[in-house]
Amino acid sequence: MNATRLFGRPGFALGALIVAAGLTSGGARQESVPKDTLPAQLAIDHIPLGLEPRTTPKEVPLTEARVKLGRKLFFDPILSSDRAIACASCHKPENGFSGGEAKSTGVKGKRTSRRAPSLLNRAYGNSFFWDGREATLEVQALKPIEDPDEMGSKLDDVIARLRTDKEYSELFKNAFDDGVNSANLGKAIASFERILLRGDSAVDRFRRLGSHDALTPSQRSGLWLYESKGRCWRCHTGANFTDEKFHNTGVSWGKGDLGRFRITGEGADRGKFKTPSLRGVALTAPYMHDGSLKTLEDVVEYYNRGGNSNLHLDPTVGSLGLSKDEVKDLVAFLKAL
Ligand code: HEC
Ligand code: HEC
Repeated sequence: MNATRLFGRPGFALGALIVAAGLTSGGARQESVPKDTLPAQLAIDHIPLGLEPRTTPKEVPLTEARVKLGRKLFFDPILSSDRAIACASCHKPENGFSGGEAKSTGVKGKRTSRRAPSLLNRAYGNSFFWDGREATLEVQALKPIEDPDEMGSKLDDVIARLRTDKEYSELFKNAFDDGVNSANLGKAIASFERILLRGDSAVDRFRRLGSHDALTPSQRSGLWLYESKGRCWRCHTGANFTDEKFHNTGVSWGKGDLGRFRITGEGADRGKFKTPSLRGVALTAPYMHDGSLKTLEDVVEYYNRGGNSNLHLDPTVGSLGLSKDEVKDLVAFLKAL
């Protein structure tokens, strides 16, 4: 099965669902748990970005049954202690599966300390969370369930709930030989996350197929700036527009979140955060790990003035001297991703 065949153009499938999701948000309950308005059938092949989905473990091949189960779990508040919060509450389809706000709300009105990032193209990720503290999607998927600010559950309680639920017992049995257990819970959710792909953007068509007209003159100039004077490509590089590494761009310097340092304890890692993919970035405002920059214009202006200076600032970040028009072009380019 090929992604392109199911979606026409895979990059547009998510675009279409975002519109659909926007139209159906209604009452208070729907607001905290968005409805699953994704296309009924989702392709399970990856979009050919010329990359292998690096984190798909060999023993967990993607199957329809696993993706279907993971999809149901993703939108189901059954995983949270008070049955009010689902993964989708903080990773909203219409926001490219990001939070849509600087801090997200978990169980009992608790607020997360960082912004909920986009889940698009995480199949290609090397590490997870802004500080990269988890190595696989399988393991990551269980963390929010037990996080007191997010879903506030005990894993054992969640497994017991799922085992007593007839429909879930069935779905787990269809997906895995050994039925409901926490490892399979992680695998199912990760399987669904791996199909949240975005590719075949105007930029891809311009680059790969040589369709000159796929980008407007302003976007073309933005691409040039991205790769030259703007220095963006030095970190947001490759087919997924990220080096998957950690850099100090000074975003919340002085506000206490030391990022990667909390994991490694290395002085040089102070204030470093993972470079996010820029795929679908037009949908995922506000930006940065703390959601401190509201628009893409704000982001480009931030880099243009050289970020927030600090002892550990990445040497690539420095004032860029982009003119007003160049800022506009760079933003136009980002929107074409
Ligand atoms: C209350 C809001 C909330 C809920 C509920 C929630 N998340 Fe998150 N998610 C976050 C925040 C905030 C982060 C970033 C935390 C950090 O980096 O320290 C995050 C990060 C992630 C990441 C890392 C992405 C990356 O690029 O590094 C993945 C994957 C993820 N969440 C998946 C899930 C799944 C699956 C569920 C449901 C089982 C879920 N989340 C439930 C808020 C939430
Ligand atoms: C030194 C490496 C580096 C360079 C150069 C760089 N970035 Fe970033 N970028 C990052 C890191 C790391 C983050 C996350 C920072 C944070 O949240 O604290 C980020 C975040 C972003 C975000 C926010 C995405 C999101 O989901 O929140 C955008 C948009 C962005 N960069 C665009 C650009 C553009 C445009 C340029 C060029 C003008 C650029 N970057 C240059 C490393 C870099």
